[in-house]
Amino acid sequence: MQNDSSTADSDTIITETPQKRTKILSFVRRTSKLKVTDETALKTHGKQYLLDLPRDNSPLSVQKGYKLDVNSAFGMDSEHATEQAVSAKIVMEIGCGMGDQIIYAAENDKRTKFLGVEVYLPGIARIIKRASEKSLTNIKLANADATDLITAINDRQLDEVWVFFPDPWHKNKHKKRRLLTADFAKSLVPKLKPNGILRIATDNADYAKFIRTSLDSVTQLKPTSTDRFAGRLVTAFERKASVRGDVVFEVEYVINTSLMSN
Ligand SMILES: C[S@@+](CC[C@H](N)C(=O)[O-])C[C@H]1O[C@@H](n2cnc3c(N)ncnc32)[C@H](O)[C@@H]1O
Repeated sequence: MQNDSSTADSDTIITETPQKRTKILSFVRRTSKLKVTDETALKTHGKQYLLDLPRDNSPLSVQKGYKLDVNSAFGMDSEHATEQAVSAKIVMEIGCGMGDQIIYAAENDKRTKFLGVEVYLPGIARIIKRASEKSLTNIKLANADATDLITAINDRQLDEVWVFFPDPWHKNKHKKRRLLTADFAKSLVPKLKPNGILRIATDNADYAKFIRTSLDSVTQLKPTSTDRFAGRLVTAFERKASVRGDVVFEVEYVINTSLMSN
């Protein structure tokens, strides 16, 4: 898990189905070994934290046609849920890495539910370990390609979506692998509630420009702020960026409710 996609092991576009070269992935499949303690946490607490998703042709896919009710994944639809639990905010973090942000946020805002999506299994296992050590009950995780998971999520369930330090894919030949495209944003729009928020941060100036051009073209999204989000932790990526003298670009988009179809 690095913020430098120059480490990509191949110039070839990896696809979900080698026979049908259609899907460009925003990540490189890595087969890293889990640390023993993380593997133990995954085995012991996986059932509590990890969503059990039906798959298609790859272990990171989500079966086409599958519908994920996030409220019910958090038990918010249970007859025993309190009024407070039923009205809890739901935040999805895409590419939550080793979990610094999601753990920090979940610990500091126990009322809000946090859904983390990450393709890197060692990251997922580490987050489970950290969440279980802190007895956090407001986290769920999906070991899946976010583009598939978003399609599966029921409409208007998310209050916020966070994408912090997405892989920049800075080489020209790799730029087509960037996650934050207009199409990606369009797929997110119906999943956000009216007035829902999309928050993005990157330390790559070229990607920041690409994001603004792509997402500003999505009429249902309104850029509302470029200030630092107060709830965003200073992670290792940001510390390294400031050592290099790189600026962190941030943007907040709000759903343009008047343009949402009913
Ligand atoms: C540069 S890292 C940043 C991690 C974390 N957000 C942070 O700031 O520390 C980008 C992360 O996004 C994940 N990622 C990339 N494409 C993804 C996708 N399509 N679905 C889920 N996770 C993805 C990568 O595995 C990686 O962990």
